[in-house]
Amino acid sequence: MFRKPSRSEETLLFAKNFLQHPMMLGSLIPSSRFLIGRLLNKVDWARARTIVEYGPGVGTITSHILSKMAPDARLIAFEMNERFVRYLERSFPDPRLHVVHGSAENVQKELDRLHLDGADYIISGIPFNNMQYELREKITRQIRAVLNPGGEVLIYQFTRTVLPHLRTHFDQVDQEVELRNFPFAMLFHCT
Ligand SMILES: C[S@@+](CC[C@H](N)C(=O)[O-])C[C@H]1O[C@@H](n2cnc3c(N)ncnc32)[C@H](O)[C@@H]1O
Repeated sequence: MFRKPSRSEETLLFAKNFLQHPMMLGSLIPSSRFLIGRLLNKVDWARARTIVEYGPGVGTITSHILSKMAPDARLIAFEMNERFVRYLERSFPDPRLHVVHGSAENVQKELDRLHLDGADYIISGIPFNNMQYELREKITRQIRAVLNPGGEVLIYQFTRTVLPHLRTHFDQVDQEVELRNFPFAMLFHCT
């Protein structure tokens, strides 16, 4: 039977994968509880029917989203790393969670396939600074396209590389810094 690993075992699994795929992961260890708290405090859980997460990794933020979201809400998580996808599927047998093994750039296709109109929240930690300009632009354009009216986007990053793209596609981009994370994280709240 599968036993969900402890937080330190998850951190080790994450770090091992970082050594194999540093560009894909973008950080050595998962997000801190301070960063997660700051990010998720901005979500209106009563309004969040369809939530999309990009780059859940070992589910550090996913578990908090699942514990806060409504019983009839859906969480669609896009993860490129196959080991993390298998890990997430075993660790979170929650019918509200749908894990997609694929890139964030396929969001429209996946939402269509699941007969979902759009997303109320998109929460992302994928490392935009390690991507080519064209891919950054494609993903941020898609985020705008699938967002429902009144939808919000919460992005954490370790550089400001994605900021010009966000400013192109969103009327408002608020920025914050969370120092209690390794490395220091920037938060972009787009509406
Ligand atoms: C910085 S880690 C964040 C992990 C976790 N959310 C956390 O906060 O600890 C970035 C994650 O994004 C995934 N990733 C990178 N590029 C992606 C893409 N284009 N689409 C989906 N996931 C991607 C990586 O495999 C990795 O799990």
